[in-house]
Amino acid sequence: MNRYIINGGKELHGEVTIGGAKNAALGIIAGALLTDETVTIDNLPNVSDINVLLEAIRSIGATVDRVNDHEVKICGATISSEVVDSEYIQKIRASYYLLGALIGKRGSATVAMPGGCEIGARPIDQHLKGFRALGVRCEEKDGCVVAKVQNLRGSHIFLDVVSVGATINIMLAAVLASGTTILENAAKEPHIVDVANFLNSMGARIKGAGTDIIRVYGVERLHGTYYSIIPDQIEAGTFMCLVAATKGDVTIKNVIPKHLESITSKLQEIGVTVDESDEEVRVIADPGTRVHSTQIKTRVYPGFPTDMQPQITAVLMLAEGYSVVNESIFENRFRYVDELRKMGADIFVKADQTSARIHGVRSVKGAEIIVPDLRAGAALTIAALAAQGKTTMHCVDYIERGYEDFDGKLRSLGADIIKVSD
Ligand code: EPZ
Repeated sequence: MNRYIINGGKELHGEVTIGGAKNAALGIIAGALLTDETVTIDNLPNVSDINVLLEAIRSIGATVDRVNDHEVKICGATISSEVVDSEYIQKIRASYYLLGALIGKRGSATVAMPGGCEIGARPIDQHLKGFRALGVRCEEKDGCVVAKVQNLRGSHIFLDVVSVGATINIMLAAVLASGTTILENAAKEPHIVDVANFLNSMGARIKGAGTDIIRVYGVERLHGTYYSIIPDQIEAGTFMCLVAATKGDVTIKNVIPKHLESITSKLQEIGVTVDESDEEVRVIADPGTRVHSTQIKTRVYPGFPTDMQPQITAVLMLAEGYSVVNESIFENRFRYVDELRKMGADIFVKADQTSARIHGVRSVKGAEIIVPDLRAGAALTIAALAAQGKTTMHCVDYIERGYEDFDGKLRSLGADIIKVSD
């Protein structure tokens, strides 16, 4: 594992370019297996979750040719097995998208139950509910999901829970089914829309992505395509929170401002300047003033994203007054607070882990801390860069699951951060 050594207290200045959306790219890579023709995916983030999934599809026989760090050509025609090796699969959560893609294309899939960050129970019952509605026989055996279907047929599915993963997975399984699938209570995140647009560029017929009712009209086959992934709104939001906490003036390029609305609005509410242009946002935080306190409630899109909850908490720990952050999506997403308290943050997490009450402090100090998961790692980096003195952060490989060259981008903005091997 790697660690960061950070000397905090420096303002950030300059500009940073955001990469492709990890959580769109994962569904799109799986979707590329739905045709026997070659699919070219561009603006791919060069992060470990993506590279693990590419290895997983290569391990079942798919042809994967890296054009460069951010572009890959995939051809599923050479797949020789529908059994996905658990060595790769348990490293990431999005491995479950291979269930939807292999069911959709080949009518059969055996995939180890997904791994991922320990932020909650993260069941996949809604994924299986959708597959079963399409006529798929699914059983859990020896830590794997074993799925088989003779005739994949469209169905009317109402998700009990708004689930990003289940929405994408059911789309993947339904595009080649006979008949129409109506998916209600669907997730509306930008990456859902990106996956739907990608599948439509292959000849799928998906309507309503981005609303809570998605219609998939089954087609006979899909063809190859060239597709470029949308920018990652969580990476963008993370850099916006970084500036809010360290103070400074940073232009964040290659963003879709509309995808950032809930984050922009909250930062403006607490006193941070956010100027939007077509494809960039400029964030200015005055070193002479503390941000104001506020209330945060994480909600499904377009609400405040749960994937930004740790990062905004790291900003509010330095705010003037009391803030409350309520986490409504995952059951165990405040594990990083103990690490912030080592730095002097005054935060109390309710016993049921549903909310954190933050009493803003004027400053925090560097400490030796451990990263528990991906977005917590981003938040702890924000705190360390805003802290006075030196911080050593262990297990930063979690961060590299979702942020490309994070320390390099931070150094380019004036941060004093180096990465060393543990
Ligand atoms: C995706 O996870 C993202 N991961 C997560 O990002 C993100 O936090 C989450 O969506 C919510 O936006 C990927 O896209 C790879 P869900 P996913 O299904 O699909 C419950 C990151 O940091 N649920 O929308 O697993 C679930 O327990 C990661 O990039 C069921 O009950 O999230 C949770 O409480 C972290 N049954 C809620 O729904 C199911 O079958 C939302 O989960 C599925 C989900």
